Amino acid sequence: MKQKPPKELRAFKVFAIKEGTVIDHINVGHAIKIIRLLNLADEKKVVTVGLNFQSKNLGMKDLIKVEKRELTPEEISQVAVLAPEATINIIRNYKVTKKFKAQIPELIEYVIVCPNPNCITNHENIRTKFHVRYEKKNINLKCNYCERLFVREEIKEYKNN
Ligand code: CTP
Ligand code: ZN
Repeated sequence: MKQKPPKELRAFKVFAIKEGTVIDHINVGHAIKIIRLLNLADEKKVVTVGLNFQSKNLGMKDLIKVEKRELTPEEISQVAVLAPEATINIIRNYKVTKKFKAQIPELIEYVIVCPNPNCITNHENIRTKFHVRYEKKNINLKCNYCERLFVREEIKEYKNN
């Protein structure tokens, strides 16, 4: 039988934040990738991560809260490539002041490492460039250089500096 903890020990799963960004409704498995993509572990900002939370619509979801940081439009479109279903919430003074779905960009530059080991971008100092297509809930990325097509699950590495 499912037992609730005693009242004095009950707490919110994650705390509300005062200022920052909440990336909510992330498809499970993608929060860790977003953290790497946005370099969140290396910034000295407080980040709370929820993995495999219950969600009404998705069944399960991941969630990321970044304090004292609002994502740039470019970062938001990068998040959309990994988590097209995510909701971005901008929090100011404890209130959700903006809530929106990120737009999937047509082009994503630099941050994705091409999974093709023979691709020229893995051998020479070239900024990567991928053409993004969103079809039937699948994100497809086509490398501008080797012209191979990848689904987002095949992208394993990111760089951001
Ligand atoms: N949140 C937070 N800190 C705040 C306010 C909200 O961390 N000060 C988080 C909530 O925990 C939630 C997200 O931001 O994960 C969106 O908040 P809210 O719109 O209040 O929640 P819901 O109505 O559940 O959002 P939705 O309808 O998008 O599922
Ligand atoms: Zn390539």
